[in-house]
Amino acid sequence: MDYKKILEEIAVEIEPLRHVGRQADYIPALAKVNPDRFGICITTTDGDVIEWGDVSEPFSIQSITKVFSLSMCLSMLGEKLWSRVGKEPSGAAFNSLIQLELDRGIPRNPFINAGAIVLADILLSNLADPEKDYLDFVRELAGDSHVDYDREVAASEREKGYINAAIANMLKYYENLDNDIEDVLHFYFLQCSVRMDCRQLSRSFLPFADRRSEFLFGSVRLTASQVKRINAVMQTCGFYNDAGEYSYLVGLPGKSGVGGGIGAVYPGRYAVATWSPRLNEKGNSVMGMKALELLTTYTRESIF
Ligand code: DON
Repeated sequence: MDYKKILEEIAVEIEPLRHVGRQADYIPALAKVNPDRFGICITTTDGDVIEWGDVSEPFSIQSITKVFSLSMCLSMLGEKLWSRVGKEPSGAAFNSLIQLELDRGIPRNPFINAGAIVLADILLSNLADPEKDYLDFVRELAGDSHVDYDREVAASEREKGYINAAIANMLKYYENLDNDIEDVLHFYFLQCSVRMDCRQLSRSFLPFADRRSEFLFGSVRLTASQVKRINAVMQTCGFYNDAGEYSYLVGLPGKSGVGGGIGAVYPGRYAVATWSPRLNEKGNSVMGMKALELLTTYTRESIF
């Protein structure tokens, strides 16, 4: 498969979308990013890296971090995890408060904000040094010790994080948070603030595509069956109320973030990362989604 040529064709075809959509500005620090960017990087299970565009510019991975926190929690708790958080698609906005109330404090899945706030609580309770241990794991996955939190973005999100604070309060009311609300929010926002470029993100997703090597990074060990299940949750829940549309158009397990990134996998073959800050109304990257749609169309490679 000539991925290089295909990426070049895709780049031409998506160019008219470069100014379509709006970047997230509810996190004030994200509003400063130049929105007219696009990068895509494929890392294959054979170790090839194929890329196009702005692939070495770091961005805020935001909700994509939830894949990494789910991996840590699943490795620590196994199936017991699912007593604290569900695994059904939400069909609702990623920050829905009303759904959490209807679900009586058990978040619908680990990828909506409420679910990831519960994951942050679990990590705070179970890790010896949560901020360090989490970052070490993400650095191992990315194969790069320079990956770091962006404390300015995290602080900026806390300053305006009224809905997430409301979600955390509701979780506490329903006794689904063990730790102090402020501590949990602080750690959740830090996790979201991790900065990576497309190359690093693509490499970080490769272990979710690779079926030959064991998933073992630091103390985080997942069985092949658990990796399969994380991919399943990505497929059904990774794009919130856009998950059906994303599945229909793309057909690769993936996770989006409001920083404009997407990480996705074609199991057994490659991981791919895209970045473009302009988002559609559901909070997913316009150019990124289109690029992935064209990738699976032109290669005829998808899980369906
Ligand atoms: O909690 C938030 O709202 C953000 N830190 C993350 C949301 C997000 O990335 C949703 N993704 N599309």
